[in-house]
Parts: sequence; structure tokens; C-alpha cells
Amino acid sequence: MDHFTLKDGVMHAEDVPLPAIAAAVGTPVYVYSRATLERHARVFREALADVPDKLIAFAVKANPNLAVLKVLGQQGMGADVVSVGEMRRALAAGIAPDMIVFSGVGKTAAEMVAALEAGIGQFNIESEEEGVELAELAAARGLTAQCTLRINPDVDAGTHDKISTGKADNKFGVPISEAGQIFGKLAGLPGVNLRGVAVHIGSQLADLAPLEAAFAKLGALVQALRGAGHTITHVDLGGGLGVPYRVGEVLPAPAAYGAMVARVTRDWGVKLIFEPGRVIAGNAGVLLTRVVRVKRGIRDPFVIVDAAMNDLARPALYGAYHHFEAVEPRGARMTANIVGPICETGDTFAMGRECDLLEAGDLAVFRTAGAYGATMASSYNSRGFVAEVLVDGDRFAVVADRIEAGAIMDAERVPEWLA
Ligand code: LLP
Repeated sequence: MDHFTLKDGVMHAEDVPLPAIAAAVGTPVYVYSRATLERHARVFREALADVPDKLIAFAVKANPNLAVLKVLGQQGMGADVVSVGEMRRALAAGIAPDMIVFSGVGKTAAEMVAALEAGIGQFNIESEEEGVELAELAAARGLTAQCTLRINPDVDAGTHDKISTGKADNKFGVPISEAGQIFGKLAGLPGVNLRGVAVHIGSQLADLAPLEAAFAKLGALVQALRGAGHTITHVDLGGGLGVPYRVGEVLPAPAAYGAMVARVTRDWGVKLIFEPGRVIAGNAGVLLTRVVRVKRGIRDPFVIVDAAMNDLARPALYGAYHHFEAVEPRGARMTANIVGPICETGDTFAMGRECDLLEAGDLAVFRTAGAYGATMASSYNSRGFVAEVLVDGDRFAVVADRIEAGAIMDAERVPEWLA
């Protein structure tokens, strides 16, 4: 459930009519709903009520906006980060260092040092090589890094190939077949306290079965590690829960996920860490755009909007579906190709899509754009970076300025020898 609804024929974000935001901030612009973010955080937390000891760390990559992190931090969430940039955002939003988990397959030495110095709560080690390096960096500073070892369970998450992370040939984690041996080696090093294991098999999962399979493998591994004399106190179960992008699409509810987790992990006797991203932020945001013009096509007309693949990359990257609708629907419908202005055919949001009848100048939204939306934006075609707005009841604020193409050009230099 979200808070983007029609009131008197005009789409609102909570109590703010979207045309008011377009008039004040311009388009394209991402619009987030505080009430929806808070609701999703609460629903996820309540779904895990039967898990006694846990940390829910929002996957910052899904939406790193400072104001969004502030809202989620106030809901008691920690942060799962994959770069020092994300760590700094979490800290700036007031999330306590010990509630920050550092994931990511290519942590540099400089990043690990920064995270050690910030005193973050957990490193999820992605390889034996990384573990050895982290141990050396920590020991040299007289510090101990709290760690888990990320396991690649070789489970097919059944999602898009580009967002699948738990198959044997994916770059993430250590092979489960070698986990015991690598764990043994790293656990003996000074500078690290290797206290558990971690897993994340992919994103936008439409089925709980692959998650359960991965968790079951992890449970067996925990038993085996304990059998080998290791003390296991923490298990990180990652994120991955999918959200509905299409009207009427049904995905596993957080409650079903929570019940499955509670059942599978009942006897583990560990603190569980969760890293949800999309399920918290996805349906808490829309991309508000204006129709530039409608162009006749051979079959269907092209509705050319002022948002493009640089603002919302998911359709171009993954062929992803984002529901598209008018802000002030007239009741009539059309079949259209919905495209952005960028000069490549990949800048297509949908072909042959049935949608509200739209004319030049109309406002429309792409829904479910709160996760992996603005954060994946680029300035391709020198379009600048899209603005972001947070709504709270009947008020709204710009939470990220639009970065005009000119400002990006200002950061470029022509060397003297070319002048
Ligand atoms: N933890 C780790 C280690 C991850 O790699 C990810 C996502 C998450 C947690 C959060 O997963 P979520 O709960 O959001 O599914 N750009 C793609 C999604 C990439 C996800 C990468 N990892 C998209 O737009 O669909």
C-alpha cells in the first residue's frame, strides 16, 4: 500500500497534489512519501516480530537520499552500505556506526580503513583475499573488525540475470563448498572477529522458495562451523524481497517472508541481520514527468516525456516494467509507446502500452520508482541530475536539488595546451 492516490481526479502524494510539486520544482522529479516509507519500515519490522534478536539495515543503494535515510533511521533501521560514500550518507543521516553493515565485493583498502575508523558494526567479507587484507589493516591499527563471511550458496533466485547474486558463477561471496576451510583460515587472524555468515541471493524475488533454500544451506553451514569449534553469533540474511510493479501483481508479503524466516532460523540461536532495500523504498516513490509532445507513429503514437533513461534506468537496463499513468486522467485510454528524449532506442519506457490518454503538457508518473531510481541516474545526453522531493502530509520539501547540466560542465577543464 502506498500514499499516491487520486483525490478529486488529481493524483496526490499524501495530501499534496502532484501538479503543485511540478509547478514549484519542475519536471522530471522524484517524489517520495514519508508515510509510505514509514509504513513499509513498520510492516517489515512487524513481519519479523517472531525473530527475537535482529538488526534491520536498509540497503542504502536502493535510495541513498539523506532525507529518506533520516526517515528510515528514525524508524530504527540501520544501514547496509557498499561504499564509503554510502557509509558517509548513513552516518550523516544519524544512523549509529554500530548499526552499519559494510557489504560489497570490491572494498578498497582506503574504504576498509575509513569504515574501521568510523567503528561500523559489521563487515561482510566477500573473499579470502579481502578478509586477509581487512585483518591486516585492522590489526595494524590495534582494532578488531566484527565480521561475517559472505557465502555464495549456489541457489538460483529466479530473478533477472543482472540482479541475481547467489549462483555459483556470480562474483559474490565464497563458494559454499569452500566456506568451512576459508572460515577456518580467516577466523584465526588477529584483527578480525569472524562471528558469522552472510548471504544475499538476488533482488526482486517473486518466490520465497529460493530464499528458504539458501537459508537452509546457511543453517547447515552454521551447524558445521560450530561443529568445527567456531563461535557463531550472527547471520546476515540479506535483502531481495520483491515488490509489485504491475497493477494486481501479487508477491510474497513481508508477513509470509517473516514467518518463513522465523521457522527456518528458530534453532539457530544467533542475531539475524536483514538488508531490505526495494521492499522499503520501491513503492514509496514515483517519477513525475511531463509530456513534451505526442508524435504520430506507424502503429501507436509515441508519448514523449521529459524523463529519460538517464533519470530512470531500469527499463533500459533490465527491460523493467514501471506502471505509467496520468496525474489528471480524463477517463479515456490510449495505446502508446512511452519514450524519453534521449538519442537512442533504448530510451523507451514501454512499447504498445495501454495507458491514460495523454496530450502535450500533461503530467504523468512512473510508479514504483522509489528504489533504484534517482540513485541510478546519470547525466547522459548532458541532461543533468534529476531533483527529488519528500512529501509529509500536506507539506513537501526539495530533498535533492536538480543539478543542471551547466553545473556538471563547470567541473570540466580544457587544458591550457588545447586553448
Ligand atoms: N544486500 C545486498 C548485499 C545487496 O547486494 C542488495 C541489492 C540488497 C541487500 C538489497 O536488495 P533488495 O532488498 O533491494 O532487493 N538495480 C537493480 C537492483 C540491484 C540490487 C543489488 N543488490 C534494480 O533496479 O532492480
